[in-house]
Amino acid sequence: MASYDDVMSLSVRRGFLWPAVDLYGGFAGFYDYGHNGVLMRRRWEDLWIETFLGLSDDYHLIDTTTILPEPALKASGHVDHFTDILVTCTRCGESYRGDQLLEAATHEEHEGLTPAEIDARIRDLKIRCPNCKGELGPARPFNMMFPLEVGPTGKDRAYLRPETAQGVYLNFKREFEALRRRLPLGLAIIGRAYRNEISPRQGAYRMREFLQAELQIFFDPATFADGLRFDAVASTPIRIAWATEKNQPGAHDIAAKDLVARDLPPWYVYHLAAVQRFYLDGLQVPRDAFRFAELDEKERAFYNKIHFDIQVKQESLGGFKEVGGVHYRTDHDLKGHEAMSHLKQSVTFGGSKLIPHVLELSFGVDRNIWTLLDLSYSKGERVVLRLPPRIAPVTVGVFPLVNKDGLPEKAEALHANLRKRLTVSYDESGSIGRRYARMDEIGTPFSVTVDHETLEGKGVTVRERDSQKQIRVKEADLTDTLDRLLAGEVTFGA
Ligand code: GAP
Repeated sequence: MASYDDVMSLSVRRGFLWPAVDLYGGFAGFYDYGHNGVLMRRRWEDLWIETFLGLSDDYHLIDTTTILPEPALKASGHVDHFTDILVTCTRCGESYRGDQLLEAATHEEHEGLTPAEIDARIRDLKIRCPNCKGELGPARPFNMMFPLEVGPTGKDRAYLRPETAQGVYLNFKREFEALRRRLPLGLAIIGRAYRNEISPRQGAYRMREFLQAELQIFFDPATFADGLRFDAVASTPIRIAWATEKNQPGAHDIAAKDLVARDLPPWYVYHLAAVQRFYLDGLQVPRDAFRFAELDEKERAFYNKIHFDIQVKQESLGGFKEVGGVHYRTDHDLKGHEAMSHLKQSVTFGGSKLIPHVLELSFGVDRNIWTLLDLSYSKGERVVLRLPPRIAPVTVGVFPLVNKDGLPEKAEALHANLRKRLTVSYDESGSIGRRYARMDEIGTPFSVTVDHETLEGKGVTVRERDSQKQIRVKEADLTDTLDRLLAGEVTFGA
C-alpha cells in the first residue's frame, strides 16, 4: 500500500514527476516530468495507441492547435457551460470548489449540484472556511477555461483548449474526405488540455495543464453495431458500479450481453469491454481495483447522453478515482459547430445523409501515470516499482559485477548492443546490490550482470525485479530471451 507521500517522494527522487517551478515557491496545479516520467509516459501512450487505434484500420492519430477562438468554444457549449461551482470565504478570500467542501464534510461525492443546492447543504452542514473558519459566501458558477487575447489589439478572444476533442471535431470533415468518406471513422489526439481548476490538489490528479489521450469515433447510430464483433465480448464480465452506488467501494461483474439487456447500446458495451481489456490485460491493473462508474443525468458533462467514468482504486488518493471516461456525445458537437460556422457537418454514407454521432474514449494521461506508480509501489525491505515490463521507463539494466578485470569493457559492449533495440541503463557505480536497488526503484524488469564466468564464455546472469531470481543465459541467446520475457512468451525461470 502506498501513501501519497510515498509515491510523490519516489517520483521526485527517481525522476518521474514533481511540482513545477519550485525555485519560485511552486505553481499550483502545474507539474513537470523528469527523465523516467517522460519515458514511462511515452510507453503508456504507445500502448494506448496500439490498443485503441488497433480497434480498426479506420482509426488514426491527428494533432491540432491548443488555442481555439471563442466562437468554436461557444459552439461546443464550453463558454456557457464549462463551469465548476466556486465558493469564496467572506473573511480571508480563500476559494473552494463547492462539491469538494461538501465531500470533505461528508466523505461522499456531490457532483452535479446547482449553486442553490450547494448553498443549502453548506448551511445544513454548518460548513465554515477550512482556512480561517470564516463565513462562506454564496456559491456561483466559475468558467474553467483560461482566456487569452490573440494578436496585438487583443480583440480576438480565444481560450486554451479545455479538451483535445474539439480539435478533432473541427477537422472531422477534412479527414472524412481525406479518408475516403467512410464511417465509422476514429480520430485521436494525445495532447495538452488546460483548465483553471479552482483548487488543484492531489498531485497529478487535478492539474491546470494536463495531458489527454482521446479517441473520437464518428458513427451512424443505425449501423455502428453491425460492424462490431459483439459476440466476441458478449459473455465478458464487465466491472460496473451504478450511479446509486458510486460512494460504495465495490463493483458488480455484469456480462456484456446483460448490460445490453439493460438498454445500453451494444456498441457502447463493446467499447467498455475494450477499455477494460486495456486496463486489466495491458496495464495489469488488478480486477478488484478497476470499475466503470455510471454517472446520472445531473452528474454527467453537458454534452454526454451516456457516461461511465473509468475508475481505478488508488491507496495514495483514498479509493476509486476517475482516470478516464466512455462518453456518448451524440451529434452535440458537430451540430453545434454547424450552427455556429454555417458550414454543413452532415455527410452521406451508406445511402443516408446524417450528422455523425460520436463515441469518445477519453483518458487523462497524467492520472494514468500516477495510478500506475501507485499500484506498482511496493515497500518491504526495499522499494520496488512493479510496473508492467512494457510500461517501465528502462527495460534492462546492464552491470559489470566489479569494476576491474575487463568486466566493465565487456558490459559496455553488451550495453551498446542491447541499446540498439531496447532502453538500457548501464551502471558501474556502487555495490551490485545498490545497483539492483536503483533499478528496482524505477521499475526496470530485468538486469543483466557480466561476471568472471562471462569472460570464460559461460554467459551472463539475468535477474528479475519481482522475484529477484537469477538465471544464466548464453550471450548468443540474450536478446532473444529478453524479447520473449518482455513479450510474456516465457516466464522467469521457465
Ligand atoms: N473530452 C472529454 C473530457 O474532457 P473530462 O472527463 O472532462 O472529459 C477527460 O476529461 C479526462 O481528462 C478525465 O477522465 C481525466 O482523466 C482527465 N482530466 C480532467 N481534468 C483533469 C485535471 N484537472 N487534471 C488531470 N487530469 C484531468
